[in-house]
Amino acid sequence: MLFQWAAEALKNYVQLEERQILELLEVPPSASMGDVAFPCFALAKQFRKAPQAAAKDIADAFNEPYLTSEAAGPYVNLKFDRGYFGKVMMKELEAGHVPKTGEGIKVVIDMSSPNIAKPIGIGHLRSTMIGAALYNMHKLAGFDVVSVNHLGDYGTQFGKQIAAYKRWGDDKAIAENPIAESLQLYVRFHEEAERDDTLEPEARAWFRKLEAGDEEARKLWSYFVDVSLEEFNRMYDRLHVHFDYTLGESFYNDKMQSVVTELQSEGLLEESDGALVVRLDDEGMPPCLIIKNDGTTIYPTRDLATAIYRHDVMKADRILYVVGGEQALHFKQVFSVLRRMGKTWADSCIHVPFGLMRFEGKKMSTRRGKIVMLEKVLDEAVDRAMAIINEKNPELANKEQVANAVGIGAVIFGDLKNNRMNEVDFSLEEALNFDGETGPYVQYTYARTQSILAKGAAMDESEPEVSSETAGNPDVLGDSGWELLKLLTGFPDKLQRGIRLQEPSVLARYALDVAQSFNQFYNKERIVIHDLEKRAARLQLTRLAASSLSRTMKLLGVETPDRM
Ligand code: ARG
Repeated sequence: MLFQWAAEALKNYVQLEERQILELLEVPPSASMGDVAFPCFALAKQFRKAPQAAAKDIADAFNEPYLTSEAAGPYVNLKFDRGYFGKVMMKELEAGHVPKTGEGIKVVIDMSSPNIAKPIGIGHLRSTMIGAALYNMHKLAGFDVVSVNHLGDYGTQFGKQIAAYKRWGDDKAIAENPIAESLQLYVRFHEEAERDDTLEPEARAWFRKLEAGDEEARKLWSYFVDVSLEEFNRMYDRLHVHFDYTLGESFYNDKMQSVVTELQSEGLLEESDGALVVRLDDEGMPPCLIIKNDGTTIYPTRDLATAIYRHDVMKADRILYVVGGEQALHFKQVFSVLRRMGKTWADSCIHVPFGLMRFEGKKMSTRRGKIVMLEKVLDEAVDRAMAIINEKNPELANKEQVANAVGIGAVIFGDLKNNRMNEVDFSLEEALNFDGETGPYVQYTYARTQSILAKGAAMDESEPEVSSETAGNPDVLGDSGWELLKLLTGFPDKLQRGIRLQEPSVLARYALDVAQSFNQFYNKERIVIHDLEKRAARLQLTRLAASSLSRTMKLLGVETPDRM
């Protein structure tokens, strides 16, 4: 907001367009220098002077209401009248408008997408949470956004699952503990397959049967799907994540033949060792496998059919795939095949990758069963949050609820505050540190705003009339309050930036900045004081900071309890 106002004023003094000025503006290195700095290096031509002299000319000529300027070397620093602009800023914040830059654009977000018959690992947490945050961010900016859980409910691994079940399955054990039991079967399959080479062909045969609609195969498959979904949904509920569509890979079973036919008629398919592939040598990529030598389809085939469905039927203008970075080649191949099929919209298919997540230093591998189960992580986080609450605030009402919000919020925030491409070594202890760069720190700050506001309301009631010694003094917020106010007006920019970069961490860091800035304000200025004018302005700023915190955290999927 301040940059905009500064550019509007400065354009009266330089031969640059507002847009060009906007690009040049900076925040001065220290707040005491001013609110906005305008570097004059680009003005040598117009002024035929060194930037220092140009800065001085501009500052001398500068005459705008409620704005002062000062030359500092090659910069012109601008200071805004806090009383005047502060009121305008608060009013705008009160309205809470966000530019609807996404109007008329339909975005499909492919997110979470765990594999059936396996527990959700903490690895899938990243896709779920990054996807959910991107979903909320797009929605707020006016996009027509749709989330799809592209369940891994198809493929050779189901052949393995069924083969293992046929050999060693125990119905009673499965009924009692479906996912853990399925996982055991899957692990056992891989262990025994190392010695027993009849297992792999058996698994392939089962998958072929499944694809051909064999009754027993389909029945077993749909049983595994049902019990898995039940467990996944329990998890999604805990994380408050919902999907507009849950369409697993199997949904595209009857939509792949037409893709294969199209590839064939375009002359894109080539035979290779009995399999059918699309060669991508000219792009320096290995061929994209379409039909395996046993006649079955494979992951890329299903993703081709999926993309075409999302574009043709769901009418997506943009498709975001929130999937780990290890699948980068897969998506490059799929998008390239789409382009070769003449689908120019393939350029709007975007892989949104993220780095590996380790949990307390441990790597995860589903095959060896060394998977850290998300449910265990969430339980542990909530237990620890409860222990902290019992220590800090044992009298707190609805402790269970708060412990849930804090524990789960800590896990989500501990993930989302990282640049998504960074590898995350997740530590619960760190994520739950109330003084660190954590969810609980932001939540705690929010709870602080609520208790201040309650005290403020009480004083408003008991002393509505106490007059102000500061009447007419515009700067009732103090330096720290003014810095906070400026930060609060930056929200729409952060949202746009987060969407442009597909990066929820932009907003997580913003929440931390606002919390920090609020705490500085709280430490420097007394808020609930007798002076009515100061109190009103400072309470209003507190209210605005609170709504910024809760709004930003909500975008990230984190709750903000009123008390903790
Ligand atoms: N189920 C896959 C996995 O867990 C992720 C699927 C991602 N989405 C997609 N359209 N390929 O690795």
